[in-house]
Amino acid sequence: MKILLAGGAGYIGSHTAVALLEAGHEVVVVDNYCNSCAESIKRVEELTGKSVVSYEADVKDKAKMLEIFQANSIDCVIHFAGLKAVGESVQKPILYYRNNIDTTLTLLECMAETGVHNFVFSSSATVYGDSSNNPPYEESMERGKCSNPYGWTKSMMEQILQDAAVANKELSVVLLRYFNPIGAHPSGRIGEDPQGIPNNLMPYIAQVAVGRRDKLTIFGDDYPTPDGTCRRDYIHVMDLAAGHLQAVEFAVQNKGTEIFNLGTGTPYSVLEIVRAFENSNGIKVPFEFGPRRAGDLPAFWADASKAREVLGWRTTYTLEDMCKDTWNWQKNNPQGYRK
Ligand code: NAD
Ligand code: UFG
Repeated sequence: MKILLAGGAGYIGSHTAVALLEAGHEVVVVDNYCNSCAESIKRVEELTGKSVVSYEADVKDKAKMLEIFQANSIDCVIHFAGLKAVGESVQKPILYYRNNIDTTLTLLECMAETGVHNFVFSSSATVYGDSSNNPPYEESMERGKCSNPYGWTKSMMEQILQDAAVANKELSVVLLRYFNPIGAHPSGRIGEDPQGIPNNLMPYIAQVAVGRRDKLTIFGDDYPTPDGTCRRDYIHVMDLAAGHLQAVEFAVQNKGTEIFNLGTGTPYSVLEIVRAFENSNGIKVPFEFGPRRAGDLPAFWADASKAREVLGWRTTYTLEDMCKDTWNWQKNNPQGYRK
């Protein structure tokens, strides 16, 4: 199949591109590099020995996107192209709603106009909301009240896609709710390359380890959890990428909307992650405790049984793999993709 990856130069998109190419599919990437660079795609080509058709374009640009759809006969779209910084979304809600929702609508319109029927969407565990659901989260739970505009964009886009699939019986929509993706390709050639101060735990730890930051601040030590720090379901990005391959194969065989959690089902605390990184890599990660971060929930993790049963998807990477692969990427690319 020929699969269009909107936002495919980013962290999850580039790893998914490797998984799809290795499975024998063709990949077309559209990215405006607002949070990535073309180097990741070059490295995907180098890792797989296959070539990727790539376009520098804004997915909101309908005329350009239509040209791209017309020039390539696309079988399935995977939509990664979103802005994802939770704090920034509180400061710049209009930017987030415009970018995340407009990209989705543009892709749906181009698909309708060129007869493409399969859509896989990067959703998030954030749609389960901030209080209404108790973990482990199951796909059958109602979406909840999100604590920030980023989360609401995901929740709204899920609704838009579900409505589109109700109206168009030809359409197949797979909503993938990611938990906390970390790690990198075991080669250390591609990985997560946050711009500025990392918002997320693992990239921050990696930058402390490589000497770019002095110490980690752990946000809160008084949560109602065994060690007082928050617990999350961390998943290796290679397992996540494999989940996309299975989702694409599912999409082409089924109509309507299906939702899958992509997580391991096992939560770890912030302190456990710090210790695991130190023990896996033999490196100290200095840290201090700071106040809680607004909007953080004490603990959530996936019920991952549906993806296992319906897609036959299983996670295969351990927490140690996640820590080692993160470090392998960071130490070989201390400044990310920039030289
Ligand atoms: P990323 O920022 O590395 O990748 C997103 C890519 O989309 C970037 O390459 C960016 O340049 C591109 N992009 C954004 N807006 C665009 C536009 N208008 N036109 C063209 N390209 C555009 O992020 P990621 O971690 O790979 O996340 C991919 C998707 O998964 C996002 O939608 C994100 O919200 C979702 N997600 C990520 C996480 C996570 O923790 N990483 C968790 C849940 C969901
Ligand atoms: N944390 C720290 N210090 C840091 C960064 C994070 O202690 O410097 C803690 C957070 O407080 C949290 C845990 O590490 O307890 C994980 O935080 P992340 O920011 O890595 O991940 P989140 O669970 O907050 O966010 C993730 C995704 C979002 C998604 C959200 C769903 O990054 O895209 O899950 O709630 F929306």
